Amino acid sequence: MEYCMKKQKLDSTIIKEGEAEILVDDVNVFYNPVQEFNRDLSVAVLTTYIKNRNEEAVKANAEEQKGIALLEALSATGLRSIRYAKEVQGIERIVANDISAKAVESIKKNVKHNGVENIVEASQEDATLLMYQSRRDKFNAIDLDPYGCPTIFLDGAVQCVSDGGLLMITATDMAVLAGNSPETCYLKYGAISLRSKACHEMALRILLQNIASHAGRYGRYVTPILSVSADFYIRAFVKVFSSQIKCKENATKIGTIYQCTGCESINTQPLCYKNLSGVYKLTSLPYVNRYCDICHHKQHEGGPIWLGPLHDQHFVSHLLCNLGEMKLGTLKRIEGVLNVIHEELDVPLYYTLDRLMSIIRCVTPPMLMFRSALLNAGYRVSYSHACKTSIKTNAPNNIIWDIVRTWEKANPIKRDKLSNDSPAIKILDAPTTTNVSFTVHPLANPVSRQNKLTRFQQNPATNWGPGTRSRTRIDLENSKKIKNQNKNSKTGKPQMIESTDKTKI
Ligand SMILES: C[S@@+](CC[C@H](N)C(=O)[O-])C[C@H]1O[C@@H](n2cnc3c(N)ncnc32)[C@H](O)[C@@H]1O
Ligand SMILES: [Zn+2]
Repeated sequence: MEYCMKKQKLDSTIIKEGEAEILVDDVNVFYNPVQEFNRDLSVAVLTTYIKNRNEEAVKANAEEQKGIALLEALSATGLRSIRYAKEVQGIERIVANDISAKAVESIKKNVKHNGVENIVEASQEDATLLMYQSRRDKFNAIDLDPYGCPTIFLDGAVQCVSDGGLLMITATDMAVLAGNSPETCYLKYGAISLRSKACHEMALRILLQNIASHAGRYGRYVTPILSVSADFYIRAFVKVFSSQIKCKENATKIGTIYQCTGCESINTQPLCYKNLSGVYKLTSLPYVNRYCDICHHKQHEGGPIWLGPLHDQHFVSHLLCNLGEMKLGTLKRIEGVLNVIHEELDVPLYYTLDRLMSIIRCVTPPMLMFRSALLNAGYRVSYSHACKTSIKTNAPNNIIWDIVRTWEKANPIKRDKLSNDSPAIKILDAPTTTNVSFTVHPLANPVSRQNKLTRFQQNPATNWGPGTRSRTRIDLENSKKIKNQNKNSKTGKPQMIESTDKTKI
């Protein structure tokens, strides 16, 4: 059942999300209910950002902070801006902008319907132009939520955000970012994406690299405070600061990634390093050999990607503390994801347990045992929020493969169909040098798992996907609710849809 067909029978539909009500009576204006998590998370991040900013001002005995000015550059229905105005304390002004006349009409109507005219003003402009025109009168926070790739908006955004300001950026072109067409990724993001099990984190690191290099051109540097992979998109929250000196550190925080074409072992190498006297030096040789040390296959080279931290864990702690005061439809999921993020190691990328074992065609051990083996060998391990079978560790690749080999010894594979050149045989024939123990380690079961939090996203729900240009998207399951809830449909009164999170895991 298509929403637009149903629509013809209805005058207007109200979508309720958070504190906002959105009138949808134009199928050409974009609304995607699956993005509620994205909007809820943004409300939570913005609230915490403003709280911290005010507390820092008090500590520094600075003048009382005014409310912030925020630009939602690609606003569609105005839903996000209206939610910010109603749910986030400390915002003085929001510009809800869209290039489409229909969208702006809808923003104006929704702003009025929600009674937030004192905070939200509608604007019809090309976002890029608007941001260039705002370089003098900057915004404290900018939200970019485009269709697909956000990079065409970054040059403007990094220039019109204030010092210490916040950028909140979505990218939905995951196929490009996840290695399906590296040449397109290079065009759009200036980086080669690789097909990898860690593709969701790689996508975040490609986007962050791109934001950082845009900022660097104007003597500005970025600090990611939260980087999230969710559903079919990624969302980066970064603070932007001005410093001609510090932005040079980009060269040490951005680097190349090598992935073996056989065993998929990953190595990363920063473009430069800083020596003890603080001088930037080029890294001379690739950190990897032409043929992989583990399985003797060739390496693929990708990137450049961001190798610095994905999150500011102090910020994540504050965010978690503030959640208690927030009423968000997807609160349970946000709490789960943020707890996993809080446990994440600051190590670029990850492996997945199922893939490590499928490379040698062996049965998969329980995650607890594999994590224990890493911990027992003296290394650290965490999940990545981006994948529920992920293994993020500071252990070198040879230790990881020693653990895999030891597991195979107890659970031997059938070797007869494998060629001697296959990665599996190369890996299994190599000697094991680590004393591997699978005895369960006390830290192997992370607190977020012990507490049975909603840690990872559920399988795709209705309306999964970023949606397309100029098309309203309404959750079909919810549209049943319209039918059932709305006894008034024949009277032409607005229909109510309560937006809900679909995630249960
Ligand atoms: C994905 S939608 C935004 C959704 C919205 N942020 C939300 O949370 O519901 C993208 C919007 O960007 C607008 N847009 C596309 N190119 C633009 C441009 N150059 N300047 C301003 N708006 C643009 C489209 O009209 C569309 O409404
Ligand atoms: Zn290899």
